[in-house]
Amino acid sequence: MTVNLKGRSFLTLMDYEPEEIRYLLDLAVKLKEDRAAGIFGDRLRGRNILLLFEKTSTRTRSAFEVGATQEGGAVTFLDNRNSQFGNKESIEDSAKVFGRMYDAIEYRGYEQSVVEALAEYSGVPVYNGLTDADHPTQILADLMTIEEHAGKPLSEVKVVFCGDTRNNMSYAWMYGCAKMGMDFVAYGPQELAPDRAVLDRVAPVCRKTGASIAFSSDARSLAGADIVYTDIWASMGEEDQIPDRVKLLSPYKVTEELITATGNPAVLFMHCLPAFHDFETEMARGQYELGYDIREVSDEVFRSARSVVFDEAENRMHTIKAVMVATIGRGE
Ligand code: CP
Ligand code: NVA
Repeated sequence: MTVNLKGRSFLTLMDYEPEEIRYLLDLAVKLKEDRAAGIFGDRLRGRNILLLFEKTSTRTRSAFEVGATQEGGAVTFLDNRNSQFGNKESIEDSAKVFGRMYDAIEYRGYEQSVVEALAEYSGVPVYNGLTDADHPTQILADLMTIEEHAGKPLSEVKVVFCGDTRNNMSYAWMYGCAKMGMDFVAYGPQELAPDRAVLDRVAPVCRKTGASIAFSSDARSLAGADIVYTDIWASMGEEDQIPDRVKLLSPYKVTEELITATGNPAVLFMHCLPAFHDFETEMARGQYELGYDIREVSDEVFRSARSVVFDEAENRMHTIKAVMVATIGRGE
């Protein structure tokens, strides 16, 4: 299959064929090697990319900004506090305006329908920088990191996602694992089990690729995991649910004991970040004073040799750069 991603949006991995995901991962590896060798191209010269954020970000924004700049592109940052977006102007009208000025749009916000509407009305590629339903650029970085560390093909890798299994990261993992023929277990309480609709959506893909996607509240499902992954217990916009989440998710906190239950001495620990693993943040301290320990992973596991969280963070940039170069770049 000849892969050509020019002009394509990146809204969810469900829109991409395994070969296309492979192409992006290989391009990211090449861009990472180039950067290490001090080679920066001009693949995005003359390209203007809008970075539209309705939620906060450290890694995603930085990855788009640095990634675009290193290839000669330029970015504009807008949020809904300092623009008309979402306030005085419809998504449709805003998208039409953006499409007249920008070559591509990154969007982070709430509804998946917003990122879809931006793609429909702008006429330029739109990148999903996280919605309530998905976080596809994170999965690209995570797949790249797994390939760097796991020592086996993705199709032989088992990922166990611990915690809020109905959040954007868990769903994004289901889409990524389904496409790449991997084994995925969403390990968490029944109260936070994945939506049936998402499981139904990935089932036909799994049949094609040989992937398996399951939900379990049983610790025995950790057995044989190559990757233990977790995420914050209350996603952006859900902070009022912290008391409930702490009650439901404390048994699924990633500790040395949970790692041991995998039975795999080589198991890796991964996290999209930001993470609560100590009390160095005002939020973790404040919640603790209220009686809630919101740490989803122990400091010991987070800082251990099996933790590859900062490689994942770096790989956000290489993979996001690959998405931009593949969709709007010159000559790739
Ligand atoms: N992992 C991730 O998306 O990080 P940010 O929220 O900092 O962008
Ligand atoms: N589930 C988290 C992911 C952050 C990268 C959130 O949406 O806040």
